[in-house]
Amino acid sequence: MPGRFITLEGGEGVGKSTQLDRLAAALRERGHEVVETREPGGSTGAEAIRRLLLEGDQERWSAPAEALLFAAARADHVARTIRPALAEGRWVLCDRFLDSSLAYQGGAGGVGADAIRQLHEIGSGGLLPDRTLLLRLPAEAAAARARRRDGDGADRIGARDAAYHGAVAAAFAALATDEPHRFRTIDADGPPEQVTGKLLHALEDLL
Ligand code: TYD
Repeated sequence: MPGRFITLEGGEGVGKSTQLDRLAAALRERGHEVVETREPGGSTGAEAIRRLLLEGDQERWSAPAEALLFAAARADHVARTIRPALAEGRWVLCDRFLDSSLAYQGGAGGVGADAIRQLHEIGSGGLLPDRTLLLRLPAEAAAARARRRDGDGADRIGARDAAYHGAVAAAFAALATDEPHRFRTIDADGPPEQVTGKLLHALEDLL
């Protein structure tokens, strides 16, 4: 059996990391070997770049520099963690991937989707997920969850204003519309077990 590469995407506070754990457990129960990982990070080099990206002043990086750092982190993560796991037939569940760069840096940050895709081609050979699960919550519910989780300690990117996060949400929605075969949009409102059920259902054809 070939490995499967599944990504979870969405804005701040939509519950991706909780759902990633739950989905991994459900897939393991079905006998799959599962690797859980996240971006930015997921390999030693990428975790070092994560700190550069998420700590420090808002003005620390220009928009293109930020996009390049995310692409560099992703290149290391793909080469050292994701491709080897897929080659061994594992399922890789990743909390955020290319589509976050397309939505945050490409859309909200103004770098543009074409530039982000070129960086991904250079850095990661254009690797795409077999399925991308886009978790969606109304903006206010997500912001309240993120505040409960982060308090005043939101990272450089999470701390950006509502207009930025609104542009991120719009960009994600457009990506899902453009690639209906790869994307499934999941309403993340409701009890966690119900959301996990919907996520599993959205992977049915790959199981
Ligand atoms: P993290 O603490 O992992 O946030 P979350 O729980 O919201 O996923 O921080 C990741 C932050 O980095 C988040 O604000 C989204 C942002 N990000 C980008 O802007 N571009 C990217 O390509 C990725 C992977 C993340």
